[in-house]
Amino acid sequence: MRAEDLRSFLAAQERKTLLRVLTCGSVDDGKSTLIGRLLYDTKLIFDDQLKTLEKDSRKHGTTGEDMDFALLVDGLEAEREQGITIDVAYRFFTTDKRKFIVADTPGHEQYTRNMATGASNSDLAIILVDARKGVLTQTRRHAFICSLLGIKHVALAINKIDLVDFSEEIFATIDTEFRDFAKQLAFQNIVSLPISARYGDNVIERSNRTPWYRGPSLLAHLETVDVETALAAKPFRLPVQWVNRPNLDFRGFAGTIVSGVVQTGDRVSVARSGRATTVSRIVTADGDLQKAVAGDAVTLTLAEEIDVSRGDLLVPPSDRPEVSDQFAAHMLWMAEDELLPGRQYLLKIGTRTVPASITELKHKIDVNNLEHFAAKTLHLNEVGFCNFSTTEPIAFDPYTENRDTGAFIVIDRFTNGTVGAGMIEFGLRRATNVHWQALDVNKEARAELKGQRPAILWFTGLSGSGKSTIANIVEQKLHAMGRHTYMLDGDNVRHGLNRDLGFTDADRVENIRRVAEAAKLFVDAGLIVLVSFISPFRSERRTARELVKPGEFLEVFVDAPLEVCMERDPKGLYKRAQAGEIKHFTGISSPYEAPDQPEIHLETATMPPEDAADRVIDLIRQAGVIL
Ligand code: ADX
Repeated sequence: MRAEDLRSFLAAQERKTLLRVLTCGSVDDGKSTLIGRLLYDTKLIFDDQLKTLEKDSRKHGTTGEDMDFALLVDGLEAEREQGITIDVAYRFFTTDKRKFIVADTPGHEQYTRNMATGASNSDLAIILVDARKGVLTQTRRHAFICSLLGIKHVALAINKIDLVDFSEEIFATIDTEFRDFAKQLAFQNIVSLPISARYGDNVIERSNRTPWYRGPSLLAHLETVDVETALAAKPFRLPVQWVNRPNLDFRGFAGTIVSGVVQTGDRVSVARSGRATTVSRIVTADGDLQKAVAGDAVTLTLAEEIDVSRGDLLVPPSDRPEVSDQFAAHMLWMAEDELLPGRQYLLKIGTRTVPASITELKHKIDVNNLEHFAAKTLHLNEVGFCNFSTTEPIAFDPYTENRDTGAFIVIDRFTNGTVGAGMIEFGLRRATNVHWQALDVNKEARAELKGQRPAILWFTGLSGSGKSTIANIVEQKLHAMGRHTYMLDGDNVRHGLNRDLGFTDADRVENIRRVAEAAKLFVDAGLIVLVSFISPFRSERRTARELVKPGEFLEVFVDAPLEVCMERDPKGLYKRAQAGEIKHFTGISSPYEAPDQPEIHLETATMPPEDAADRVIDLIRQAGVIL
């Protein structure tokens, strides 16, 4: 079918309800056969309608097709924008009663993230089981991912029933076993069907070869299962996509309603600030509406001027989401690089993006049997239960209550790729019980007394590059000038505050996170802080920079070629690392990411430490830290 035909076809189909179906299983289970049969056996109807439609669209043109066309391809739209390649095939078919989008993803464990993408956007899952094999590990994994991603309806297709002589007993055993397992999950309804995808038993029509089966055929079930009512019945939620202000007389807030209903005259508030006002108009491309529902793309104008910006969530004052900067969530890790708790990522929820980090990985979940176990990190396709902390409060609903306002993706700040998909469970109360204490003697007061501007001098570089040597001279010089300083040095801090940390990537992230927080406190104390750590990752150095005000962070790249550092080998560590006695040694078996734009770049292979220190002092002067 040409894209044009598909568009006009979809337009004409708009009034029919849509069911988004995920198929779970492997080729061996008969998944392709089943999809093929559904498509093939409904195709007559399909072609028929396409002809009428062609006539129709010639008469009426094609309006309003965009909405539905998008449904074919949206999925985790944000994630797609973030450039992850996902192997999800979408197929479309329709009957008199309904239209269907079937998402098909590979079933193996290494494709968990693909399956999650399909699941995130589906109303119902067909989970295929081979009647001869019964409930397998893979069946449990599929059910878990479906449940985790908020699918409420399951059709358990017990396939190849012809190969077990249409046995009612075998059917019942599998049905019971699956229901037993699914008790731990959050499905609303499970319908088991004995089918033969190959011969069509109970697929489109009920089969007379299973006289003991009283339920519907698979298609009849798909045509009638009730999944829609829920969305409109939920509280109103409108994530603001953009503020439309073409001229001074019009200020509208545009977005797609993700749940609930809104009418003109309704009170609405901004979730984050709690400020409330009244809806004056509901503007759409086709004119004003009195009332709009979930799925509608609208622009609201409000009676009073209140502060609303992109990323805000408009909600009813009486039914507000949670607002917090800490929450617990399940997260599926989707990146080749492991999760680093403590690292700052970006979190995108609805239309809002904020910096965030995982403060604690509570446990990892075996996707095959739901067992929990302790872990320090997550690898590709693994699921964990984590505490998150965002730099600003966000508005959300628990995922089980609302899949749109409770789901988020995690983005790597440097590659811009999607690395995780999360489902919020609950906000953390502790976040709301700790407040900032206002202090009268503040940073400015302390700094003024010392006659200096506080700052962080962040020395980064390989072991043996000369960081500590240069930092030490710089501190002596500052001290001699009567400046108030403090030195945080890797080897020293690792004896106390950070004695529990080693040299894995995760530990280094935490090492730098703590040191950056400590440095920030010293800046608040009015001091010039010298930090001398390898600090091998750009991401954490950037986080450290962002902890203080612009101009308060000066990055000093102490650069010497690895060969020179190995030659110097002041502590004999390179020799041991090369002999394999020290694991994860920076430069040998662990990476060092050089700064892109340090405030100063010192090449110590050719520059004596004294000169290097003088250059740092010059830099401090230029930056206005000392006069
Ligand atoms: S960082 O990477 O986490 O920033 P940090 O600066 O705290 O490292 O500590 C580095 C110091 O620890 C080095 O100067 C070296 O003396 C010592 N060290 C011991 N093991 C390692 C290792 N595997 N990699 C790097 N440095 C190590």
